[in-house]
Amino acid sequence: MNNKITAAITAVGAYVPEYRLTNAILETMVDTNDEWIKTRTGVEERRILKGEGKGVSEMGAPAVIELCKKRGIDPSEIDCLICCTVTPDMSFPATANIICFKVGAVNAFGFDLSAACSGFLFGVTTGASLIESGRYKKVVIVGTDKMSAITDYSDRTTCILFGDAAGAILLEPNEEGFGILDSLLKTDGIGMQYLHMKAGGSAKPASIETVMAKEHYIYQEGPAVFKFAVKGMADVSFELLERNQLTGDDIAWLVPHQANKRIIDATANRMGLSIDKVMLNIQRYGNTTSATIPLCLWEWEKKLKKGDKIVLAAFGGGFTWGATLVTWAYNT
Ligand code: UT7
Repeated sequence: MNNKITAAITAVGAYVPEYRLTNAILETMVDTNDEWIKTRTGVEERRILKGEGKGVSEMGAPAVIELCKKRGIDPSEIDCLICCTVTPDMSFPATANIICFKVGAVNAFGFDLSAACSGFLFGVTTGASLIESGRYKKVVIVGTDKMSAITDYSDRTTCILFGDAAGAILLEPNEEGFGILDSLLKTDGIGMQYLHMKAGGSAKPASIETVMAKEHYIYQEGPAVFKFAVKGMADVSFELLERNQLTGDDIAWLVPHQANKRIIDATANRMGLSIDKVMLNIQRYGNTTSATIPLCLWEWEKKLKKGDKIVLAAFGGGFTWGATLVTWAYNT
């Protein structure tokens, strides 16, 4: 027994929309082909949330409900809900409020956290601090993004990459040393120029001109982001291992953000991990931004064993990036 409180992951939930946007369908929309998409990115299909008026809370809420059911708790027991997203239902109120309302988390406070593809990692570290403070017992981190809402489906360099989904975890106090053990998180504003949305914020509010100029979509200089991502995600994951006196042999799973299979391979390689220790579902969902990591945990939950050491790693817009070391706390 050790008396230090750590934040353990005690349940996982997710939601993926039904509609599958395959590479074959994209071939009919833009000048691209299945072979290029698969070899350059690893994506084969992505899910798209269809339906008028449906925002990310439509996916986040069922993910939280599933998680509560699995853990056998009522949503009213949640103390705090952090919603990580770059595609909130609306600018305000926060989507966390809307999810709390939809699921009946009547005793929770909630807020949104915006760190693009690293949002979930930043949320996990923030939520873990709340648990470690001893003041909160049940903190939910939801990563939910509807990237189809900000994707230009006439731009072949971005529309092949992104999809919609939500994933959520529950953090609870643990006194046996399981849970979030260490995090290394980074931000560098140099990334703004390479990956952003030009209009719709306070610097450039929406106008007829911004809509006509397609400035409400993802703007990405792919090769520049790729270079930073390969180095950033691999370096930080390696450094996290080093400062915890661990090697690839000690790690059961790498849980990487799913932006590009080639970035994932480079990270695994730098950590000395074979590819069979890497959670990979980019082929089925594409890049779902804040949802990629919890979606992997959800799909691999049955394979995870109590005591497994896992590394969560991400790189995204901002730039933002980081890695988190976790000891898995339960057997399914
Ligand atoms: O999660 C947030 C962070 N984002 C990322 O981590 C994304 C990082 N970037 C990437 O994953 C890659 O840069 C992309 C997948 C976006 C692009 O792959 P790339 O290997 O960097 O390709 P490229 O942009 O250098 O383009 C190579 C060629 C170009 O043609 P030319 O100039 O060589 O004739 C492109 O026009 O491929 C062309 N191309 C395409 N061809 C078929 C670009 N997009 C497509 C496409 N289909 N969809």
